Amino acid sequence: MNQRILAELSDLESRAELRHLETVQGVDLSSNDYLGLAADPRMKQAILKGVDSATRTASTGSRLLSGHNEAWTALEHNFARWVGAEAALYFTSGYAANIGLLTTILRPGDVVFSDSANHASLIDGIRLAKCRRVIFPHLDLNILEEELRRSASVSGARVIVVESIFSMEGDRAPLADLAALAERYGAELIVDEAHAIGVRGPLGNGCVAEAGLSARVLASMHTCGKALASAGAFVCGSASLRRLLVNRARTFIFNTALPPYFAAQVAAGMSLAVEAEDERAHLMKLSAFLRNELRKNGFDIHGSDSQIVPVILGPNDVAVHFAETLKANGFGVRAIRPPTVPVGAARLRLSLTAQLSETMLADLVVAMILARSERSNARTASLSR
Ligand SMILES: Cc1ncc(COP(=O)(O)O)c(C=O)c1O
Repeated sequence: MNQRILAELSDLESRAELRHLETVQGVDLSSNDYLGLAADPRMKQAILKGVDSATRTASTGSRLLSGHNEAWTALEHNFARWVGAEAALYFTSGYAANIGLLTTILRPGDVVFSDSANHASLIDGIRLAKCRRVIFPHLDLNILEEELRRSASVSGARVIVVESIFSMEGDRAPLADLAALAERYGAELIVDEAHAIGVRGPLGNGCVAEAGLSARVLASMHTCGKALASAGAFVCGSASLRRLLVNRARTFIFNTALPPYFAAQVAAGMSLAVEAEDERAHLMKLSAFLRNELRKNGFDIHGSDSQIVPVILGPNDVAVHFAETLKANGFGVRAIRPPTVPVGAARLRLSLTAQLSETMLADLVVAMILARSERSNARTASLSR
């Protein structure tokens, strides 16, 4: 086994895909703390208050055993109200929420239509559910419709699964069109709002609510570890879906609940996000500024239309070169490589937060231009050797 481990590590290294754990240095452009709440002193105060008033510091079990606390029920109720859903259930992570949701509701006779850019947690949930999978090209609604038409005779359920803001592409799913398509073909729609909650919609309640679709999706999933500056995730939908998840979702049942005081952190993240209208407006402005500057300077940012701005660079070593040059210039940016993105589509994922400024982003673009010219000089030198 040791030989196998070493061989795999050296294989990853040869493909420039070996990652190391390191703390971000300089201006952080890889954080999902979109509203800048992670360093907000009001969060710290709320957490300390939660710890202070808790009768115990650990949950001591899963929610169905000794780990339940009324603070979670209140939080779920408030969260559901915020996003306009009938009910919500809290999981210890977005990964667990997606796996729990998909494996609970899908059966082997069902067909899932999954966008090719969907997050690993959605892919794994669909795989574990052992249903038929149709992976349609990223946001290609024509092919999706063709596939829905082709599967009209299926007796099981048909479910479309997308992200509202795609985590590696930064583009947005046309949710109203998807809901209409689902309804036309008798299918259901599930939306992962990981990168939209707190960021889009009236009072930050996400893209589904923004599009007025809360009653037309089967379920939505909202992580708390990004704009809400905490951790865990809510699956929202009907009260019966919630009841079934409590009884069937293995990642809910067989998972120790988070400590009761942690509910205070999630609650604070949620209420500060509701109030953060200025931060949301600033984030929108910064995102438009960066997208415009990068496009103007000839960088490929695909269809980014959000606070996530990918810069597509192609080969892994090019993405690593850009990330290293940016690091040397004071910017904390990560090279995103396969399997997170398809082979040959390595990129930088620039993730903006409300704590940044246009001046910082203008400096970033200058550093990107520098990285590009260094790379092209190095290539010219190696060709002329
Ligand atoms: C789209 C999407 N869904 C789900 C998750 C998983 O959430 P968590 O990190 O809370 O497990 C992520 C995390 O990056 C994500 O980007």
